[in-house]
Amino acid sequence: MGLRVGILTGGGDAPGLNAVIRAVVRRSTHAEGAEVLGVMNGWRGLIEDDIQPLARNSVIGILPRGGTILGTSRTNPQDGADYPARIRATWERHGLDALIVCGGEGTLRAARDMWHEHRLPLVGIPKTIDNDLDGTDFPFGFDTAVNTVMEAVDRLHSTAESHHRVMVIEVMGRHAGWIAAYGGIAGGADVILVPEHPFRLTRICELLRHREMQGSAFSIIVVAEDAHPHPEENFLDEAATSQIYRQGRLGGIGFHLAVEIERHTGIETRHANLGYVQRGGSPSAFDRVLATRFGVKAFEMVLEKQWGQMAALRCNKVITVPLDDAVRRIKQLDEEVYHVAEVFFG
Ligand code: F6P
Repeated sequence: MGLRVGILTGGGDAPGLNAVIRAVVRRSTHAEGAEVLGVMNGWRGLIEDDIQPLARNSVIGILPRGGTILGTSRTNPQDGADYPARIRATWERHGLDALIVCGGEGTLRAARDMWHEHRLPLVGIPKTIDNDLDGTDFPFGFDTAVNTVMEAVDRLHSTAESHHRVMVIEVMGRHAGWIAAYGGIAGGADVILVPEHPFRLTRICELLRHREMQGSAFSIIVVAEDAHPHPEENFLDEAATSQIYRQGRLGGIGFHLAVEIERHTGIETRHANLGYVQRGGSPSAFDRVLATRFGVKAFEMVLEKQWGQMAALRCNKVITVPLDDAVRRIKQLDEEVYHVAEVFFG
């Protein structure tokens, strides 16, 4: 029997997942006798034995499609006491030789553990719209999300300008400010608030009044979902705090910030939470190419038995890094990028 390679997509979906699946399948057709099997819904597919063969025909037309044809879940393979044994049983039933795990921080952390603790021969591919994975300059998914944010900021810009309003736009990114910074810089935001820099309401109001005095009667604020007010100027009560910063489910700071800004400045203020539109849609050219490069590389890593490694982008070269390095810590927003953003505040 030839080489049998499983592929799974786990965690939040991101544009480019189908491009990766296609690339793995297409690369496999150049390896004599190799077969690719799709593991449905992330790690859950291995636990529940939900596996489907992926032939060249299965990936026709999927390159431009958002989401993942394999489905996804946040199931952790270590959460159930019997999960590792069930995964091993599915593995043997299907005669798997290797697994390609495509995911963000949670999914790849699990992959690292499954390699170290259970010797499951696997390689990783970095996927996240948040760009918070260490070890790679960029994962795929981030570029498309930033383009979506940029387009939304452009649209909200014109309505804010017409109505002379402040528009507070909340974006995703979990505990890192990459989407907010890139989306905000690209969209010409007047203030960008990120988790790495707690914000002061008085300073924001000063900037808005200053803009008003200079003749700009509207302003755009981009706020990351995990941005926090500075403890010395915290305007959130306990109930609001626990509602906004829920474990694994952030959201709502934009609404509260908009209320406070209007109360302090008297300037009419609205908020918009871009939410899940940031995860959907067709991948950008950059993400299609990057996902394709990662997919081809991952299959070649399998051929070379580079277990416990992840495909990564460094200085525009696709290389391999240990999964350990990728998940050791959250990659926070680069200070240099934040410095550039700050130049345009106010
Ligand atoms: O990690 C991607 C991400 O979209 C984060 O930006 C966001 O906080 C989270 O996923 C939302 O996850 P869920 O799909 O579980 O609501």
